[in-house]
Formats: sequence, C-alpha cells, structure tokens
Amino acid sequence: MVAEANGRAEFRGALIGAGFFACNHMQAWRDLAPEGARIVGVCDLDAGRAQAMAEEFGAQAFTDPAEMLDAIRPDFVDIATTPPSHRALVELCAPRVGLVICQKPIADTLEDARAMVAACEASGAAFLIHENFRWQRPFMRMLDLLPSIGTPRFGRFSFRHGWDVYAGQPYLATAPRLAIMDIGVHLFDLARLFLGDAVAVTCETQKRNPRVAGEDAFTALTRHAGGGVCMTDASFHTTLRPEPFPQTLAVLEGDEGTLELREDYRLLIHDAQGRREEDVEPEVPAWGEKPWHVVQDSVRNFERHVLGVLRGEAAPQPSGADNLKTLALCLAAYDSAEQGRRVQP
Ligand SMILES: NC(=O)c1ccc[n+]([C@@H]2O[C@H](COP(=O)([O-])OP(=O)(O)OC[C@H]3O[C@@H](n4cnc5c(N)ncnc54)[C@H](O)[C@@H]3O)[C@@H](O)[C@H]2O)c1
Repeated sequence: MVAEANGRAEFRGALIGAGFFACNHMQAWRDLAPEGARIVGVCDLDAGRAQAMAEEFGAQAFTDPAEMLDAIRPDFVDIATTPPSHRALVELCAPRVGLVICQKPIADTLEDARAMVAACEASGAAFLIHENFRWQRPFMRMLDLLPSIGTPRFGRFSFRHGWDVYAGQPYLATAPRLAIMDIGVHLFDLARLFLGDAVAVTCETQKRNPRVAGEDAFTALTRHAGGGVCMTDASFHTTLRPEPFPQTLAVLEGDEGTLELREDYRLLIHDAQGRREEDVEPEVPAWGEKPWHVVQDSVRNFERHVLGVLRGEAAPQPSGADNLKTLALCLAAYDSAEQGRRVQP
C-alpha cells in the first residue's frame, strides 16, 4: 500500500491524542510540510485539547477517531496516546490507512502488541513505533561509526536524572510499572540496535521516590546473540548538578575501538590512532528549547524517516514487529527483578 504511494507529492496525516508529547509531533510535522507531509486532522477524546491543537496547526478537530478517518481519509495516522488505548486505535486504523505510527511503549502486554502487528500485517499497512531515541543525533552518529570499532562486545546506556517528569506527565506517578516501561523501552531498543537481539536479561528494580507508585530506577544486564553484553540503567530520582536530563550517556566497546558518549553531547572515539572528540549536540529547532532539543530534533528525524517509508524509500525503523522483541525484553526484565533470576525474553 505504501509502495503504491511512491512518487506522491504530499501525504495527508491524522494525529490521535493531543496531549503532553503530541505538540512535538505536530511542530515537527509542520517543519516537514515542505517535504511532503501534512497533518489535516487532530483527534482527542478531550474536545478542548483537540480544538486547541487543530487551531494552532490549521487542521480539523475531532473527538471520535472513526469519525475522523471517515471524514478526512488520511494516508497515515500518528497515534500519540498512552498504551491502554493503543491496541484498539491501531486495530481501527490499520484497515483504513497505508501507514500507522504508534507511540512507545507499543502496549502493556505482548498479547496486545502481537494483535496490533497482526492487524497491520493483515491489512498491508506499514507499522512503525515512535521510538525516537535511536533517531537522536548522537546515536545516529554512533551508528555511522559502529563499523569502525569492530564487533561490539560491551555496551552501556544510562539515563539518570532528577527532573520532575511528573509535572508534565502526572500519570507516570501512579503507573504500577514506570522506569522500564517508560525509559527502559528506549534503552533496550538502543541495546538491540547496537548489539543485536538479547538472549537473556538480569534486572534489579528500585523504588526511590516515595511519592511514586512504580519502580523509578532499574539496572539491567543483557547478553546479546552476537556474544556482546550490555548494561542499561535509569533513575528518575538522582541528584546531579548540572541536571543532565534528558541526555542518555553511552559506551560501546568493539574489538578495534570504543565510542563514548559523555555529557554535553561530547562523543569520544578511541582507537589505535588515539582519541578524538566530536560535538554531536543536535540543533535546537526554531520551535524548540534546551534541554529538550535532543528529543525535539529526534522526533523530526523520526518523522522524516516516516516520510521515506511513505514514499517507499525506507523500511520502518523500528517496525512494530521488531518492537515486539523490545517489549518482550522489558517484560522479561520485570520477571527477572520479581523472581531474582536470569530470564530469556
Ligand atoms: N518518545 C518520547 O520521547 C516520549 C516522550 C513522552 C511521552 N511519550 C509517549 O507518548 C504517549 C503519550 O504521552 P503523553 O504524556 O503525551 O500523554 P497525555 O496523557 O498527556 O496525552 C494523551 C492524550 O491522548 C488522549 N486520548 C487517550 N485515548 C484516546 C482515544 N482513544 N482517542 C483519542 N484521544 C485519546 C487523551 O485525552 C490525552 O489528551 C505515551 O505512550 C508516552 O509514553 C513518548
């Protein structure tokens, strides 16, 4: 269906879920309008939110997703709601559009996630997960450099901060599963991107902030199919000055070199010749601001990639089918932490 769209000048999209994060989606789509993507409909169960966002971005407002699909017949749908609604929305959209995007985490359970992938496969719709960490500029650069360090043997991806994420996303404070489902999905996606599929995970979770229901810190160790091992850790209750949020720090050791992403977007490249440093800080979009720019720029990079998929020029990164393995790894990490043992995802 997407390949048939090859050669089209403009693709018309619809956004479902006009909440906290969706403004980044909409700003980035607006930047991409000259390249051929336009959001023409915005839907939210909350009429005020739908109306406000539709007005700001020159789209039509709806409160019923099915009604919106009938009225505007979009080429693609961008789902920016929280996981409980993902399955029903993907199943609604898959038969009616050529491409479906769903925010991370894909779903709370593998059963729901598999049903979503199956719905898109059955209708022929392309299915992407809005997994934007791999589209952050520092990680795009590290992926370019990966062949230069030889086979990756060890990785570390770390996201530790004390930023009040609960102010903008109050539902995070009451979520029974927090750090792994919210940030672990991103870090495990990176671990799989750089080291290949994970074959085993060992994980410890912690509740550090007494105001928060779920685990707000975790430390995981994964073994990967190629023989590499990786540490991933995140904390939402860490005091660091200056506050590093929302930077992810990383180390990737290969047989012939090491890539080290330090604070302030300093990428160190260690190899037989010595050590050199690159500045991999992303630009601040015209509508963006620090410290969010790394996220905002990654949303636009991801959406530009979606446009490539719509044109038939690129394969989904990551696809829903690929993302099943990341969700399985997250759920295995919870099993490991609860049962105190190494688990195969
Ligand atoms: N990739 C990232 O960097 C990143 C960052 C923040 C949030 N997120 C993800 O984005 C998603 C949304 O997060 P948020 O903080 O914006 O949530 P939010 O609660 O602020 O917004 C969600 C919106 O969806 C609407 N909604 C829910 N069900 C709906 C339905 N069936 N039809 C129409 N509208 C519906 C709600 O009314 C709400 O306005 C989450 O899955 C979250 O994990 C991703």
